[in-house]
Amino acid sequence: MKPCSSGCACALGVPALLPRGQTGSSSKLPEFAGRFPEFALSVAEKMQAPEVLRGLRLPELDDLGQLLRSLPATALVGLGAFAAVLAYWLASRPKAVKPPCDLSRQSAEVEGLDGARRSVIGDSTQLLTHYYDDARTMYEVFRRGFNISENGPCLGFRKPKQPYQWLSYKEVSERAEALGSGLLQQGCKPSTEQFIGVFAQNRPEWIISELACYTYSMVVVPLYDTLGPGAIRYIVNTADISTVICDKPDKARVLLDHVERRETPGLRSIILMDPFERELQERGARCGVRVQAMHHVEERGRESRHVPVPPRPEDLSIVCFTSGTTGNPKGAMLTHGNVVADFSGFLKVTESQWAPTCADVHISYLPLAHMFERMVQSVVYCHGGRVGFFQGDIRLLSDDMKALRPTIFPVVPRLLNRMYDKIFSQADTSLKRWMLEFAAKRKKAEVRNGIIRNDSLWDKLFFNKIQVYEGYGQTECTAGCTFTTPGDWTSGHVGAPLPCNLIRLKDVEELNYFASKGEGEICVKGPNVFKGYLKDEEKTTEALDEEGWLHTGDIGKWLPNGTLKIIDRKKHIFKLAQGEYIAPEKIENIYIRSDPVAQIYVHGDSLQAFLVGIVVPDSEVMPGWAKKRGFDGTYAELCKNKELQRAIMEDMVRLGKESGLHSFEQVKAIYIHSDMFSVQNGLLTPTLKAKRPELRDYFKRQIEELYSSISI
Ligand SMILES: *[C@@H]1O[C@H](CO)[C@@H](O)[C@H](O)[C@H]1NC(C)=O
Ligand SMILES: *[C@@H]1O[C@H](CO)[C@@H](O)[C@H](O)[C@H]1NC(C)=O
Ligand SMILES: *[C@@H]1O[C@H](CO)[C@@H](O)[C@H](O)[C@H]1NC(C)=O
Repeated sequence: MKPCSSGCACALGVPALLPRGQTGSSSKLPEFAGRFPEFALSVAEKMQAPEVLRGLRLPELDDLGQLLRSLPATALVGLGAFAAVLAYWLASRPKAVKPPCDLSRQSAEVEGLDGARRSVIGDSTQLLTHYYDDARTMYEVFRRGFNISENGPCLGFRKPKQPYQWLSYKEVSERAEALGSGLLQQGCKPSTEQFIGVFAQNRPEWIISELACYTYSMVVVPLYDTLGPGAIRYIVNTADISTVICDKPDKARVLLDHVERRETPGLRSIILMDPFERELQERGARCGVRVQAMHHVEERGRESRHVPVPPRPEDLSIVCFTSGTTGNPKGAMLTHGNVVADFSGFLKVTESQWAPTCADVHISYLPLAHMFERMVQSVVYCHGGRVGFFQGDIRLLSDDMKALRPTIFPVVPRLLNRMYDKIFSQADTSLKRWMLEFAAKRKKAEVRNGIIRNDSLWDKLFFNKIQVYEGYGQTECTAGCTFTTPGDWTSGHVGAPLPCNLIRLKDVEELNYFASKGEGEICVKGPNVFKGYLKDEEKTTEALDEEGWLHTGDIGKWLPNGTLKIIDRKKHIFKLAQGEYIAPEKIENIYIRSDPVAQIYVHGDSLQAFLVGIVVPDSEVMPGWAKKRGFDGTYAELCKNKELQRAIMEDMVRLGKESGLHSFEQVKAIYIHSDMFSVQNGLLTPTLKAKRPELRDYFKRQIEELYSSISI
């Protein structure tokens, strides 16, 4: 295995901004100096589908807390879209950012396509499908990394308190061929009809299993148990999975439970990464499932090796199941070309700023079942970089980081959905809190205490000049469809279309949004747009129209400089932090029946664990209602009475309970406002419907206070 030479940092013709080898090897520097994550990504999942990669430039320490607090309060996040933060470290490689295009004109209209817009970066005649000619499938992406790293280290893992051990690109590739051959030997077909389940935490074997599939044109289906009860059964059956590769005996037992209950009759084979007891094998045998060790399957495969059957770009590579608002999870079908196009779009937009190289090291701890983590890893493999896996315990993450010294570090600023919630449920309080906020507080406290130092982990992670990019997308367009143009550090938008897709806004008449006014439902078309949901015609036709436009359900608006701003959701449904779906209008319709309540706005978003409400009491009814309960005073006085406020909330909650609301659907705090929402004050539509984005902005401060008044 040959370590990456520093020369390859310039391989792409882009100046290496960080003297990686140099600074990293100096023993005098603090642990992270020079090698701390230059490129941090943080992910926050909100709604079932839309994802936002969002960002800000964080110029001064004093402003930091302010800026960090403003992160969650943006329209986007409030809208319940999927959020992710990309932070870009420039600490040791300052560089004047020369924008890759005119920032006052970041996208251009495409003629004859009803106002559809495209990126002005790159080729103007066609959409970007790939960045490198020799990397058009995920199989080729890996081969490319193998080649340019000259068989450098690829996948790293560690035992407690040990240094990282590395598998080289060659070792990974050989094991993948062996495993893939072993699968074929057991009856799997080298075809895109062959789906293989992977049910494991992030670890090298995950990637080896994935690459085994790609080497023989098979399709990976990640399984994870945070999609809700019945999800595993549903996925195994929907994807006709006969073979599942899992990490631990526990997971094999979950699968066998299903088989024993005759819920997954097609499951025939379980391949385990970790050692297991004979009892498990016997239990499997009794219900017709072969339980084998992964190394055993690899050995058998080595004995009867098959020549690779590489996939084509248009072949299916992965089926990514995401939770739906109702019913079963939806399996988004993504081809090799989809994945390659999406990360190529990102590479194209950032090429003037950032050139990944084989010196890059990524720490993998966010779920591989999520496309965002997969995109980041794809970028790393494509450039011959390394991926080091955490030990599987979030409490040890910072220790893993010290041992690994990653240059790419994805962070999750909040509790996002169940997937992340599960990971972070084990974390200590600091990690449970939003990482960024925590960092801000820590730093402030230290500064207050007179500690000025620049070598703490938090400094390295968060306080060197961070530039955070913003973007937007969803699994259905692989991950992202818009991205900040480097050099544009203004906030309030999600950037311009990626060079791999067009974006068009379509009329949503019922909400008064018209494309002719530059507003409408965001629709995406291009090589990164998925092929539909596996065996779900109905949801597929809802998401993809006949012309191939993906309908995101988010409402966007074009800004004069060609960037996109998310202003609303078509359907007002969002997820709370733990993943429960909330339809606020349904709840409001129940609460409005409370006698003293004239108007109510129920607020929540996926960064919060519970709902709060803004209530306008009925000026005619409320004083009498209050009097019966022993409260006296004018309407205005009563509106300020905390005890009355509690009484009103109790009445609302009582009604909610009677109507069958779950406890997570009930407000936990309310604010009493004495002025009616009206058309005049801009809080109602002409048809007297609540303007939710406006209400959210208008009561931003009160909502924040309500959340900070209650800790759960
Ligand atoms: C790496 O790529 C170069 C250029 O495409 C090619 O000539 C060379 O044979 C490749 N090396 C390996 C080990 O695949
Ligand atoms: C951090 O502190 C050390 C010692 O005080 C100093 O030499 C170094 O330049 C500082 N680094 C930065 C990035 O400010
Ligand atoms: C783009 O337009 C928006 C809205 O007009 C503005 O806030 C932002 O500053 C602009 N960005 C640049 C780089 O001009």
